[in-house]
Amino acid sequence: MFRGLPARYDRLAEWLSFWQNRRWRAALLDAISAADPRLVADVATGTAGVALALHARTGAAVVGFDLDEAMARQGMRNVRTALGRRAVATGAPPSARRRSVAIAVARAEQLPLADHSVDALSFTYLLRYVDDPEATLAELARVVRPGGVVATLEFAVPEDPLWRALWWLYTRAALPLGGLVTGGRPWYRVGRFLGPSITRHYRRYPVDWTLEAWERAGIGEVSVRRMSLGGGIVMWGRRK
Ligand SMILES: C[S@@+](CC[C@H](N)C(=O)[O-])C[C@H]1O[C@@H](n2cnc3c(N)ncnc32)[C@H](O)[C@@H]1O
Repeated sequence: MFRGLPARYDRLAEWLSFWQNRRWRAALLDAISAADPRLVADVATGTAGVALALHARTGAAVVGFDLDEAMARQGMRNVRTALGRRAVATGAPPSARRRSVAIAVARAEQLPLADHSVDALSFTYLLRYVDDPEATLAELARVVRPGGVVATLEFAVPEDPLWRALWWLYTRAALPLGGLVTGGRPWYRVGRFLGPSITRHYRRYPVDWTLEAWERAGIGEVSVRRMSLGGGIVMWGRRK
């Protein structure tokens, strides 16, 4: 799915979302930085955009995990470019705080971290890709210390019927075409995939289900912010 995407990912993620991705990220950063963390895990880190933004905003050491090697490699390159000599890019998860941002290849379903070992955890655009969102949430919560913050962002289906109809047109027609024009065949494939993937996910796992799943995973005080007319959703809560 992500083959052929890393090089243009950061630019096209903004263009094709009409620059809403950066607004959703900013809301996620607000939630995480409120906890003043020293060590943060960013899961499904991709090209490390969220990991780098978290580090810049909070000063925390951040370790990003992604299962796709090409995305992770681009993430490592981006970290090196952004942080220069301070960057540590490694195949193994970092435990030392003096490292600033590190990227490792790992699955969200099985994180190479000890229980309660991070102060905060972010995951972005992840749950649509996993077979068992409930088990994955439990695994994400496992590594966060009690009182730590968990935050996520994801696409969403607008609730308002008019916006939902326009969203449907955008995701089914304009997005594949826009992907093709701006990024060629790999982005056409993404453009065709995204709309149905989002619709399918929320049919099976509505937002209310997700809120209950967070509670079952041990994450309480959950807040939800729907953004961009309902096209994006940011959620955060506190590890019990
Ligand atoms: C749409 S990209 C988002 C990248 C990044 N979070 C961002 O917002 O820029 C989704 C990422 O999730 C990763 N991913 C999908 N399933 C995963 C899993 N089970 N464990 C870890 N990463 C996963 C993909 O490899 C991809 O890099």
